[in-house]
Amino acid sequence: MNFLTKLSSASLLLALLCTSPVMAQSTVAVADVKCEYLADPIGMDTPHPRFTWRLQDDRQGAKQTAYRIVVGKTVAELAKGTAWNTGWVKSDAQLATYAGAALKPFTKYFFRVDVADKGGVKKTGKVSTFEIGMMTMDNWKGEWITDINDVALKPAPYFRKVFSAAKKIKSARAYITAGGLFELYVNGQKIGNHRMDPMYTRFDKRNLYITHDVTANLLAGKNAVGVLLGNGWYNHQSTAVWDFHNAKWRARPTFLLDLRVTYTDGSTETISSGQDWKTALSPVIFNSIYTAEHYDARLEQPGWNTIKFDDSAWKTAISRQSPSKNIVAQVMHPVRNVEEIATKSVKAFSDSNYVFDLGRNISGVSKFTVDGPAGTIIRLKHGERVYANGHVDMSNIDVHYRPKDKSDPFQTDIIILDGKGPKSFSPHFNYKGFQYVEVNSSAPLKLTHYNMVGYFMHSDVPAVGKVSSSNPTVDKMWYATNNSYLSNLFGYPTDCPQREKNGWTGDATIANETGLYGFDGITVYEKWMADHRDEQKPDGVLPSIIPTDGWGYDWGNGPDWTSTIAMIPWNIYLFYGDKHLLAECYDNIKLYVDHIDEKYPTGLTTWGLGDWVPVKSKSPVELTSTCYYYKDALILSSAAKLLGKTADAEKYAALAEKIKTAFNQKYLKADGIYNNGLQTELSCPLYWGLVPDDMKAKVAGNLAKRVEADNFHLDVGLLGQKAILNALSDNGYADVAYKVAAQETYPSWGWWIKNGATTLYENWKIDAKNDISLNHIMFGEIGAWLYKGLGGIYPDADQPGFKNVILAPNFVNGLDRFETSHKGPYGTILSSWKKEYGKVIYNVEIPANSTATVKLPTMPGMKAYIGVNEVKGTTTQLAAGKYRFELR
Ligand code: BGC
Repeated sequence: MNFLTKLSSASLLLALLCTSPVMAQSTVAVADVKCEYLADPIGMDTPHPRFTWRLQDDRQGAKQTAYRIVVGKTVAELAKGTAWNTGWVKSDAQLATYAGAALKPFTKYFFRVDVADKGGVKKTGKVSTFEIGMMTMDNWKGEWITDINDVALKPAPYFRKVFSAAKKIKSARAYITAGGLFELYVNGQKIGNHRMDPMYTRFDKRNLYITHDVTANLLAGKNAVGVLLGNGWYNHQSTAVWDFHNAKWRARPTFLLDLRVTYTDGSTETISSGQDWKTALSPVIFNSIYTAEHYDARLEQPGWNTIKFDDSAWKTAISRQSPSKNIVAQVMHPVRNVEEIATKSVKAFSDSNYVFDLGRNISGVSKFTVDGPAGTIIRLKHGERVYANGHVDMSNIDVHYRPKDKSDPFQTDIIILDGKGPKSFSPHFNYKGFQYVEVNSSAPLKLTHYNMVGYFMHSDVPAVGKVSSSNPTVDKMWYATNNSYLSNLFGYPTDCPQREKNGWTGDATIANETGLYGFDGITVYEKWMADHRDEQKPDGVLPSIIPTDGWGYDWGNGPDWTSTIAMIPWNIYLFYGDKHLLAECYDNIKLYVDHIDEKYPTGLTTWGLGDWVPVKSKSPVELTSTCYYYKDALILSSAAKLLGKTADAEKYAALAEKIKTAFNQKYLKADGIYNNGLQTELSCPLYWGLVPDDMKAKVAGNLAKRVEADNFHLDVGLLGQKAILNALSDNGYADVAYKVAAQETYPSWGWWIKNGATTLYENWKIDAKNDISLNHIMFGEIGAWLYKGLGGIYPDADQPGFKNVILAPNFVNGLDRFETSHKGPYGTILSSWKKEYGKVIYNVEIPANSTATVKLPTMPGMKAYIGVNEVKGTTTQLAAGKYRFELR
């Protein structure tokens, strides 16, 4: 629909009045140009990559009226658009899918996006690139190789090969995948700054390969390539309750490498993994992604990855079959050591026993720098808590670990010194969740806080959200939520970085919006949805943890958890305006919904875990699970409509209606109480949209009363906390929601913060005896709610990707200032309010080429103005630009 026709005449007038001629001088540019949501990606396999960009134009009403994309194999070809030339397309779209000539493997493409602004003035973009990698599996030349050792052997293997570059090198790419984890070295240098590659997948279904540009690492003549392999989830040697040590795919780590060199004369040569590689054991004498890493510096082989090294004592590598029949490109933001954190304090108990404190809880590793006599054994025990006596307490995180002996202590790195001077140690193939590190040494050591730093590791997704307010506790909650979200993002979302590292689906459904408001996570979610597709059984059932080796198909996998399959693609559609993932998952969502329909023909389902880790009251599983099932059916119907599947759209809309009717017949009473009227019982139907329109006010009123009776404190578990704040603020009770959200006594988020939390916890009770990891994201809806319930930034399902933004802030009692922003596909949306001299000032920024529907809350005795004009009606439609509202 044309933007102008959507404007009411009053709001159009406003938009025009606010147009400031001064801003016309601002520069118009094409910004944030990406391919598959990454800047200049290399090693992609997709035949139809997506291009996205942003119009940078500060002018009021800024709009893109047309775009043109040109693609070619050289900059000269690009000018002609030899691979693809869309010509000028009259459109305001900022997402286009490549539809040019078939893309060729191992080929770099140059592309440019040009735009026309609101006046039709054309602007040429900058040249960007994308590069195709293997494209199909047949293009691999190498063999998967490993060493001859058994799965139980602990030391990590090294592999090496020397080759001679015959001619002058123009460019070189290393394509590498592994069963397990790898570090790649060329001429002694570690390649890239990724950690924990490849990302975890179900290894017998799909293996991910990574592409590195190694042009600058290669030398004329002889070169050495080295690979160090870790176990990761592939060869899980530690024993815990999820049975990964019995995984079908388990084997000695293995890798496949093609190093493709292009010479200046245009010829190419590929140096591949094969039986001509040499192998030996490394000083990494044990590595477990789950527990820790052990390193014996005395076993170092200096120069092992350089040409000068004598490898005559090394053994020959052996080849093996590919772990799966599907090797595809890993095109996503990688895991990195994102932040270095200095030690905040050190406590010495003796000259061989110290406890280091980072001052905050993180996922990641420590780097310990130390000098001492050869043979000194140092144990570094990482934990989240300390006992009253100051020693590290592991009792909240080692509960599911089932060690066979004492050789693999939980979250405890072990290093053995070589006595050759100071050295730094940090695990290659393990990460942990910790704040404290307790050092125990077999010989005296003189340590200060300089001896250790922490690295916060996670998928390095760009931050796109900000929150700041006049309440420091709220700001700290937001910080803690982000820390827990990121601590649980390692190429798949996890529940906690210490006790499990499992891809718990329920936790991810809860945290998905929090993640999307705060971080540009599409690449991670698209990868994780491919993991879902790999794991789905032919009957539609999904496991509760993904990826899995088989655990979780029989427990914990009802719709309250595994609705990830529908909800995540839907949220990605809302936040990015891209229906690709919905289309990719469509059949899987359908299979899943059909399965529930078949098993629960009444429309009510008892399948699920229910309101996990509640404060005190427990709601029926059928009540909460049916809400999730209803939403899945609705999403399926909407997706069908979007994808042109009309019959399905109708069928699943009817199913949703059937579920809703059955649900309300069973649970809703005439007085607007669901079941027993508990917080979760009222919140879930409201939030997930099952309440009949004419009953909403009653139910919401009952919820507000219930919350008041509970002294404005939570009485919910994981499912209730997802719903409650939204259910209140969406239905006229934002003040009540804020009172609950900002609570600082038990049970609340603020209670954790007041007790020093820098991450979110798994249990409302800080002194709980179980389920008390200190870095869980499952109570993380608070993060998303701040953007929604206070800032009022919502995507509009009719114009997704924030093409039209809904701005419905709440100027709640008890808070003087609140500012939030989210950088969506069109740019940064700002929603910022403050109370001043009896007035409320509300500033908004709507990015170029997008619009906003502003819904201001009614404030008793106040009128809203924009400039000198009174705002009439309940909503105001605005064009891109900056606006200042005043309520006085
Ligand atoms: C996990 C949770 C998960 C739950 C499901 C726990 O062990 O840590 O976050 O969702 O199990 O039951």
